Amino acid sequence: MRGLTLDGVGVITYRTDLPEPEVERSTDAVVAVRGAGLCGSDLHPYEGRERVRFGVIPGHEVVGQVVAVGDDVGDFMPGDRVLVPFTTNCGTCRPCIAGLSARCSSGELFGFGDPDLLSAPALAGGQAEQVRVPLAASTLVRLSDEISDEQAVLLADNFPTGWYAAERAGIVTGEPAVVIGLGSVGLCAVVAAISMGAAPVMAVDPLEDRRDRAERLGAQPVLPGDEESILPVGAVIEAAGTPVAQRMAVRLLRPGGTLSIISVPTADHFQVTAVEAYDRNITIRTGRAPVRSILDHLLGRVVAGEVVVPGEVLLTHPSVSLAQGAEMYRRFAAREPGVLKIAFAP
Ligand SMILES: NC(=O)c1ccc[n+]([C@@H]2O[C@H](COP(=O)([O-])OP(=O)(O)OC[C@H]3O[C@@H](n4cnc5c(N)ncnc54)[C@H](O)[C@@H]3O)[C@@H](O)[C@H]2O)c1
Ligand SMILES: [Zn+2]
Ligand SMILES: [Zn+2]
Repeated sequence: MRGLTLDGVGVITYRTDLPEPEVERSTDAVVAVRGAGLCGSDLHPYEGRERVRFGVIPGHEVVGQVVAVGDDVGDFMPGDRVLVPFTTNCGTCRPCIAGLSARCSSGELFGFGDPDLLSAPALAGGQAEQVRVPLAASTLVRLSDEISDEQAVLLADNFPTGWYAAERAGIVTGEPAVVIGLGSVGLCAVVAAISMGAAPVMAVDPLEDRRDRAERLGAQPVLPGDEESILPVGAVIEAAGTPVAQRMAVRLLRPGGTLSIISVPTADHFQVTAVEAYDRNITIRTGRAPVRSILDHLLGRVVAGEVVVPGEVLLTHPSVSLAQGAEMYRRFAAREPGVLKIAFAP
């Protein structure tokens, strides 16, 4: 089949000779990919900040159609249109029951692969024609017609991730919140914070194009450097993933405030000292978003129209061919104006 592989830092290869995935266990499904997002998380290994298993098919934000199922995949059937959250989950272990599907004791992350655990094969991702989904009965989410493929790509990761970040930032209706970093995750956090009643939501990013998108979504755009004008607030979301951005986030917190860090760490330590945290009674929350658990309560609200997934504002490239993979990775990593959220459509 056709697909992309990450073969080294900065090296994405378009291949036409990849083996098609098969049902390997009775709990597996195989999904034909209709859309697979390119995420800021894909940039960490691509830019060499995170070690992964080179040769892996990347991609962890998938919408598609079931083409094959094992004997224990519940009521999913070939032809079902489904969303694949970025991790698999069993639905019955202690983390799953506690709403932490992304920390399922038998869960796996699509498209990375632990380079130090060579005995376990890397779970191939979705930037390809097909993807194998382990633990399919409890991982897959059936999609109704009200949800477009574009929205589903965002619902497989960035939208529930931004929602999770906002939920854990201690937002209070009528009180301000700040979002730092306006990639797709930060912009989804803007939408979530506004939905939760934060007012105003101030949105910080050096890139004008991204600040403009935040403004279209209802936030007040702020250029880094001008954030001194912001009075310290109780809820700060850091979705940028750099130590500089995290320092800014800490400076903007008022006593008793919450720092919700949704970025994947790229430094060994939080950019806050024990004394700063103590002296201002700061709460820090961080971690991988449990997309499958969040969708249990969020998807119904999206279908009911109570919560709007901003596909038109975010998905600048909703249907790119896999053959353009290397070029699109390069343009996304360069943060070209007008390039925000890309989805491959095999
Ligand atoms: N916790 C999770 O489960 C989870 C899930 C998905 C993504 N992520 C992480 O969330 C982060 C954001 O993802 P994304 O897809 O939006 O990434 P992205 O790379 O598209 O966006 C990052 C944004 O931060 C901005 N930025 C950089 N330095 C800044 C600074 N000093 N001040 C303000 N803004 C700054 C950039 O200009 C960019 O717009 C990444 O670290 C990603 O790995 C985490
Ligand atoms: Zn992602
Ligand atoms: Zn589990």
